Amino acid sequence: MNDTSLVLPTLLGERTRLREWRADDVAVVKEASGDSLIPLVTTVPRTAGEPEALAFIRRQRDRLDSGVGYAFAVADLDDRAVGHIGLFFAGGTRASVGYWIASSHRRRGYALDALLTVTTWATGLESLDRIELYIEPGNHGSWRVAEQAGYEREALLRAWKRIDGEPRDMYMYTRLTDRALVHSGRS
Ligand SMILES: CC(C)(COP(=O)(O)OP(=O)(O)OC[C@H]1O[C@@H](n2cnc3c(N)ncnc32)[C@H](O)[C@@H]1OP(=O)(O)O)[C@@H](O)C(=O)NCCC(=O)NCCS
Repeated sequence: MNDTSLVLPTLLGERTRLREWRADDVAVVKEASGDSLIPLVTTVPRTAGEPEALAFIRRQRDRLDSGVGYAFAVADLDDRAVGHIGLFFAGGTRASVGYWIASSHRRRGYALDALLTVTTWATGLESLDRIELYIEPGNHGSWRVAEQAGYEREALLRAWKRIDGEPRDMYMYTRLTDRALVHSGRS
């Protein structure tokens, strides 16, 4: 799936609009740079400079061009960017989703709405069977979002990833796509 460039759809949820990243979204990237977790687990820069924020935005477009996956800006219904959500191919028929919402926009249902919207779209993709989320056990906010979006906790992956140089455990949450559900007899 990663040998062709991809076309990003614009997806409309109940509270969010998922669209391409634009240069005028720099403010939300700068805010996310100051978060205690986001720069450690994503490619958001650790410093809040304008060039670094613009480079982050360019990288999201590159992911499409290289076929790695779909990187959406999460915008509110006034089209102001409040965060990020991406679907990245993880080999063959699997993909993983990652997301963040800048702290001044949290607890308004944006992450849940964005995850529901991406999931509804992605579970209909013919090429995919599984969508995975990797969430630290201590990240209650994130795994509640995952569970409310219908993901099931499938495993505790020990020392799955180094964060800030330290091995960290991760819960793996999954949703099967429509196609996989039909074949597994679970639909
Ligand atoms: C986790 C994160 C994405 C949640 O974003 P959000 O937009 O605030 O989440 P929502 O408003 O959609 O929350 C939906 C539900 O999730 C739960 N939730 C969200 N954040 C929570 C928190 N900090 N503590 C407990 N529950 C939380 C709540 O049940 C919430 O419903 P409620 O507001 O009615 O109580 C955001 O805090 C974030 O970006 N954190 C840093 C990056 C990160 O952890 N990304 C995920 C990596 S796996």
